[in-house]
Amino acid sequence: MRDYEPYYTEDGSIGLYSYTDKDVYHSKFGALTEAWEKFVLPSGIDDILNTQQNINVLDLCYGIGYNTKALMSHVINKNIDKLKNKNLFTKLRSIVSIYSDNNLSKYENSLSTHNDTIYDNNPDVLSNINIDCMDINIELVKLSPLFKTIKTPGEVYEQIVPKFLSCFETYYKLKNLYENLAGVFYPKNRAEIKDLLEIKFKNMHINMEYKVNELVNYILLNKLQNDFRDDYLNEDMKFLLKDKSTSKFLSKSLIKYAKFNQLLGYNLSSNSLLSAFLHNIYYASLSKRYKNINFKAAEKLFNINYYINDARKSIKQIKNAYDIVFLDAFTYTKAPQLWSVEFIAEIYKHLSECGVLLTYSNSAQIRNTLLENKFYVGKIYNEKQDKFIGTIASKNKSKIRYPLNNYEIGLCNTTAGIPYHDPNLSFSKKEILELREYEFKHSTLMSSSKYMKIRSLRGNND
Ligand SMILES: C[S@@+](CC[C@H](N)C(=O)[O-])C[C@H]1O[C@@H](n2cnc3c(N)ncnc32)[C@H](O)[C@@H]1O
Repeated sequence: MRDYEPYYTEDGSIGLYSYTDKDVYHSKFGALTEAWEKFVLPSGIDDILNTQQNINVLDLCYGIGYNTKALMSHVINKNIDKLKNKNLFTKLRSIVSIYSDNNLSKYENSLSTHNDTIYDNNPDVLSNINIDCMDINIELVKLSPLFKTIKTPGEVYEQIVPKFLSCFETYYKLKNLYENLAGVFYPKNRAEIKDLLEIKFKNMHINMEYKVNELVNYILLNKLQNDFRDDYLNEDMKFLLKDKSTSKFLSKSLIKYAKFNQLLGYNLSSNSLLSAFLHNIYYASLSKRYKNINFKAAEKLFNINYYINDARKSIKQIKNAYDIVFLDAFTYTKAPQLWSVEFIAEIYKHLSECGVLLTYSNSAQIRNTLLENKFYVGKIYNEKQDKFIGTIASKNKSKIRYPLNNYEIGLCNTTAGIPYHDPNLSFSKKEILELREYEFKHSTLMSSSKYMKIRSLRGNND
């Protein structure tokens, strides 16, 4: 049996549930929304794009790649004007060249020379983004580009609405009832109550704001099929692509493309067959929104590397200094290996002087682990929700817009802040948890509950 089960999160993007971990991989409020709001937008990517030619990103716990996809999408959208290619003929040829394999190298070379000229002659030089993606689960990584990143309005109508229709009916009935009651009992507040009810209804809509453009998935699939060619050709992968229970969560055109490559074993025998096939894919799924993009140039923006292993081992293999690190591991009780003082120390070593580490976690324990490693630590603020939704850390103080306040720093110094240790980065999960339990029992620190009580009695939570 597969370890995970896909489901729709509230913004229409796919989330996964893991049977082994008895936990969700993605926020049920919106897998994609989380990627944008907790990782990409607070990373300061726009400033980095404006100031750096080469950008290094580490996606720790890539999973099905939402954080990488959202970042790539943002970069493509930012550079859309530079990537536009007005010549239809060149455009069609460039997409063929992207999906060509070695057998077509001659053909490909002639095309890429043509595209390189357009790309290299552009005076507004585009940045090069290197993304190192680490995850332990190869199956998820291989499927990552195939998962639909968001439902289209048509699908929302067909699949989600009928499911919730009964809720909507009840909701409308209740809404009318509340409005009428409000009219009788609170005539002065009627308008206000009506507004509140309207807002509640509006929030039920699917969030289309944080879309990932399809081109990103094509680029990733191409890359993965090149790197894991044998895996894509094996029976397990063929089975997964046919699996009915999963297929509604996968993008049809990308499955077609993946199957097409499997069928030909990547030894494409006919250029015209390839062109016809890609032509159809192009018109079926890409052309409407990305008519004018130079695909070759867009693909050239990114250098993506996959490290499929325990991230504790992978991180030792790399030499890069990262400008952005996404840390999206399971919660610390489930995966303490990736939250230990020693693992965070590895990240510190690999962060550039102005680099930022981002994570969804707000816990005192993680913040204390970062502080122990001499990071400057702050909070990720979400304007829409007017609340703090994660943690940001850097070696550079100026990167921290919302530093921890005295109350939060105090909380780090209670038992809640006791960090995990993983000497030599080789302990099992059980050993790491037991070690902390031991430290916790023998700690002389104040308990977090006592600390919170004292602070609230003093009325001082800042
Ligand atoms: C919360 S999910 C990450 C979701 C992901 N960012 C996405 O967009 O789909 C946690 C991920 O951590 C991976 N993982 C668990 N233990 C790991 C380890 N020791 N090293 C690397 N990855 C690990 C899991 O396979 C899973 O994909």
